[in-house]
Parts: sequence; structure tokens; C-alpha cells
Amino acid sequence: MHLVRALADRSFDPAPRLFLVTRGSQAAGAGARVTDPQQALGWGFGGTAAREYPELRTTLVDMPAEGGTDALWTQLRHADEEPWVALRDSERLVPRLSRTRPDGGVVPLRPDRTYLVTGGLGGLGRVAAERLVALGARHVAVLGRGGPDAGAAEWIAGLAARGADVHTVRADVADRAALEAALGALSREAPPVAGIVHAAGVLDDATLRTLTPERIALVLAPKVLGAALLTELVPDTDFLILFSSAAGLLGPAGQGSYAAANAFLDAWAHALAATGRPALSLDWGAWSQVGMAADADRLPALAGSGMASLSPAEGGELFERLLGSSRRRLAPIALDRAALERPSGLAAAHPILSELAGRPTAARPPRGSRP
Ligand SMILES: NC(=O)c1ccc[n+]([C@@H]2O[C@H](COP(=O)([O-])OP(=O)(O)OC[C@H]3O[C@@H](n4cnc5c(N)ncnc54)[C@H](OP(=O)(O)O)[C@@H]3O)[C@@H](O)[C@H]2O)c1
Repeated sequence: MHLVRALADRSFDPAPRLFLVTRGSQAAGAGARVTDPQQALGWGFGGTAAREYPELRTTLVDMPAEGGTDALWTQLRHADEEPWVALRDSERLVPRLSRTRPDGGVVPLRPDRTYLVTGGLGGLGRVAAERLVALGARHVAVLGRGGPDAGAAEWIAGLAARGADVHTVRADVADRAALEAALGALSREAPPVAGIVHAAGVLDDATLRTLTPERIALVLAPKVLGAALLTELVPDTDFLILFSSAAGLLGPAGQGSYAAANAFLDAWAHALAATGRPALSLDWGAWSQVGMAADADRLPALAGSGMASLSPAEGGELFERLLGSSRRRLAPIALDRAALERPSGLAAAHPILSELAGRPTAARPPRGSRP
């Protein structure tokens, strides 16, 4: 952030080109091994830097877990306009989203276990909790910093009427002591936790120019610390679903911290593969009617650029179908292909969407790179 500001404040002609180099943060190449998930924060911030300061022609380069210095040198000397590059063995890989189908069947849940939903009283958290109950969960714990208001109490009563015990857990998921105490209390009143949906999150939009360390921490904490603490404090679960966002894939202007927090979740799910723990990061696109993106201003602008929104019914259906997936990262996003392909559409500025927009851009190795 300070580097980008410093570069932007000085008048160079032409502007220098910015390369942000990370190591082991992206699941690319054989084995898709992520060794340094915390470095993915740089990819999230870097994506936003690229949007906010196009003159810097920011390129993110992820090195392999070890080595790669020669390939980096080639990349720096012969860079093209590809914004995101992973160097693996002799290959230079770039990310492209493509259509896929859910690979798992519907997962029946255990009635004698508890399913924990952080952010469970929020928009998407409630939909997830409802779907867990529909799949057979009889104990659902909803965790948030605040308690249920009248509307939430009514919603809880609705789930109870469907046969579920809903346990409300008050804690900041990023506060180790508070989370430990809350989970301890939960274990005394409910069966062991067998599945986690981590949907706690906050938005606090600010450009890189106006961000402060406090504002960054506010957005990073629930996702980064929250995911790490839940992984550690609830070690044995059948699933750990991390609610990430397409913002981590696209790096929207004004959402540097949010993009970074979500990019971390994606890398975290991959990094857990080394421990054998199941984890799936879902890079949700925007949802309508519920949740943090549902305000009237945001959605039409997104839709105009090709990102349509998922209704709670559509999102809930996808959640159910993805719960049993063996993948580490999926992006359930509703796209408007016609809008996406327009010159003003998202695909024009985001090569990662090019294949979905029907304009394949095969990654060409930069001049001088090895085949
Ligand atoms: N809505 C969308 O279109 C969309 C799209 C992509 C991804 N997502 C992701 O989906 C998740 C849910 O979003 P939403 O739209 O449902 O937002 P929401 O309605 O604002 O709900 C977020 C919930 O997280 C809880 N929370 C925030 N910080 C917390 C913390 N430190 N500890 C414990 N709980 C905390 C909040 O409760 P308290 O304030 O009471 O703590 C709130 O209930 C987020 O991770 C978001 O990034 C949403």
C-alpha cells in the first residue's frame, strides 16, 4: 500500500511498472500446492492496485515454493500485459475461469452433530443455516458478535419449528480467547461440531489512498484470523466451507482489503490440502435481496458490467450442491454473458474472465521464456 502510494505520488514519465512478487501463494501447476497462503494477501491488494492505478501496469507474479529465480528474471525482462502469472517448473501459468459442474452429491448431515455457521445471523449465513437444516442438521450454531434482534429471533423460531435446535453463539471470530470460551460453552450445550460454514465478514470500502491500518485490520480480521482460529480450535470436521468472494478474483477498485481477505481464504483452503483437512473456498458472486451487497446502488452497476446476482434461492441451491465437492476452490457466480462481452464489460479488463466471455486468450510465454 505504501509502495503503491509512493509510486503514484511521484511524477515519472513514463510511469514505472509494478511487479508484486509472492511465493507459494497460488494453486497453480501440478499438485496445485499452496505453501504460503498469507502471501495471497498480496494478490488481493495487488489486483485492486491494478484497478486503481492502471498506469503502473501492475503484474502479480507467484514464484514456486522453492527456486524459480531464473524464470522470474525472464518474466521481468519480457513481461506482457498479463496481470497474474504463476511460475512453476518451466511453465508460466495464468488463471482463467471456466464453467464447471458440481462434482459431489448432496451430503446428508448427521442429526447427532452440530453445524457451526459463523456470520450465521447475516444474509448468506441464514440461507446456509436453512439449507443445513433442510439437509438433515438438527443442531445449528450461529455465531456473531451481536445477539439476535427481533427479526433474527423470529427466524430462529422458524428453524426450531422445522425440528432444529439453534444455538446462538456470541463471539468475535477473530478473538482467540472469546472464540475459545464461546466454543467451550457450545460444547456443553450441543453435540460436537461436525461441519463449519465460515461466513463472517465485513465490508469497508476505501481506496488504497485512503486506507488506514485500522480499516484494513477490520476487514482482514474475521476472514484471515477467523479462518485460522476455526481451523485450529475445531480441528476435526467433515467440511470447512469458507465464504469468499469474487472480489478476490477481480480486485475491484475501493475493495483492496476485502479482495486481500478473500484471496487469503482461497489460498487457505488449498494450503489445508497438505494436512488432509477438507476445506472449500467459495468465491461467491453478488447476491440480491440479502447480505452485504444487496443495497440498491451496488447491484445494477455490477450487472451492467456482466456480474449478475444470485437470488437467495439460487445461492442456497448452489450451496447445497457444492457442500459435498472435493474441490478446494469454486466460484459460484451468476454472469450476464452479453454484458460481460461488451467493451465496458468486466472481461475487457479481466483476462481471468476471457474464456467465459468467449474470447479465449491462450497464455503465451513471454519472449525468451523456456517452452
Ligand atoms: N452478500 C454477497 O453478495 C456476498 C458476495 C460474496 C461473498 N460474500 C461473503 O459472504 C459472507 C456473508 O456475507 P453477507 O452478505 O451475508 O454479510 P452480512 O449480512 O453483513 O453478514 C455478515 C455476518 O458476519 C458477522 N461478523 C462480521 N464480523 C464478525 C466477527 N469478527 N466475528 C463474528 N461474526 C462477524 C456479522 O455479525 P455481527 O456484526 O453481529 O458480528 C454478520 O452477521 C461474507 O464473508 C461475505 O464476504 C457475500
